[in-house]
Amino acid sequence: MATRRILTGIRPTGALHLGHYVGALKQWVSLQEEYECFFLIADVQALTTHVDQPKLIEEAVREVVLDFMAVGLDPTRRNVHFVLQSAIPELTELTTYFTMLVPFTAMEHNPTIRAERKQLRSAPTAGFMIYPISQAADILLFTTYPPQKYDRLLVPVGEDQIPHLEETNKIARRFNKLYEPVFLQCTPKVGDVGRLVGTDGKDKMSKSLGNVILLKDEADTVRKQVGKMFTDPEKQRKGEPGHPDKCPVYLYHQTFGDVTNLETRADGCCKGYLGCVECKKDLAEALNAFLGPIRAKRAEVEKMPLGDFLRQGNQEARNIGTITMQAVRKAMHLDYPNLHKKEV
Ligand code: TRP
Repeated sequence: MATRRILTGIRPTGALHLGHYVGALKQWVSLQEEYECFFLIADVQALTTHVDQPKLIEEAVREVVLDFMAVGLDPTRRNVHFVLQSAIPELTELTTYFTMLVPFTAMEHNPTIRAERKQLRSAPTAGFMIYPISQAADILLFTTYPPQKYDRLLVPVGEDQIPHLEETNKIARRFNKLYEPVFLQCTPKVGDVGRLVGTDGKDKMSKSLGNVILLKDEADTVRKQVGKMFTDPEKQRKGEPGHPDKCPVYLYHQTFGDVTNLETRADGCCKGYLGCVECKKDLAEALNAFLGPIRAKRAEVEKMPLGDFLRQGNQEARNIGTITMQAVRKAMHLDYPNLHKKEV
């Protein structure tokens, strides 16, 4: 029977935060009930922005594995694989071949590359400019034709990754047309994921903006961080009417708080009798109630052989990768069967 497969990835640049949970992890945890899952820790892609910080990436890989497991991703299941990008040489090889199929201008015009390029602290490296091609390899290594164990490959990602997935499918089509049909199209899976504003109310929770609450933060850190949160600027003190829909504290209550109490909370804020201090206290409590089990699980997992989980996942990925690369080399005439023939 065909199983359905997903692959998705994350760059290890630090411990994960509530924004990762709402925007990705929560959905991934439920996907492992239904799919064969590959969760790629994209340490090579992390080098596009952190090539000068190898220790940070090393640490971050460990943090990401711990956070994955703390929220309930479970690599002890037979259908769940954690894969470390740098441990899969087939990815590097496939990336090299794919670079020949993509006009360089396609990289310059990629909207996500353009946006990220503006945020770089120095001139973009060649590796940065072509990382969407390496991402295409991440995906297509697991997306070959004919589908044996799965009928299609889903890639759960945020909106910003769509240009990369379109490029991936273009590469697949170009390869298939030029050589032989080796690759299936991948299917992006966006939607029904939330998005969490930063503690400062800014668009996005992000470590570089200093507006994050980490999944591993201690209860006291959470209290402090919530205490510093931005609120509706028009409500300066208790008694003044606030606008909950403009207040990040209220948005967090919507996501992590007691939903049965939301209307009363909004009403109290609008009418003025609920002050921000009290509302924040409630939020810190709600967040700590949510994070408690995650912290406990993390502490438990810290004692486990994390390297073994990665080794198993890497092996599974390489088993698939070896088969894909045989097909790729054959299609590209890089297997040179005639050279290996014994002379008679
Ligand atoms: N670019 C993704 C990010 O920044 C990470 C990633 C790497 C990825 N390889 C992938 C996502 C393959 C989906 C599929 O979050």
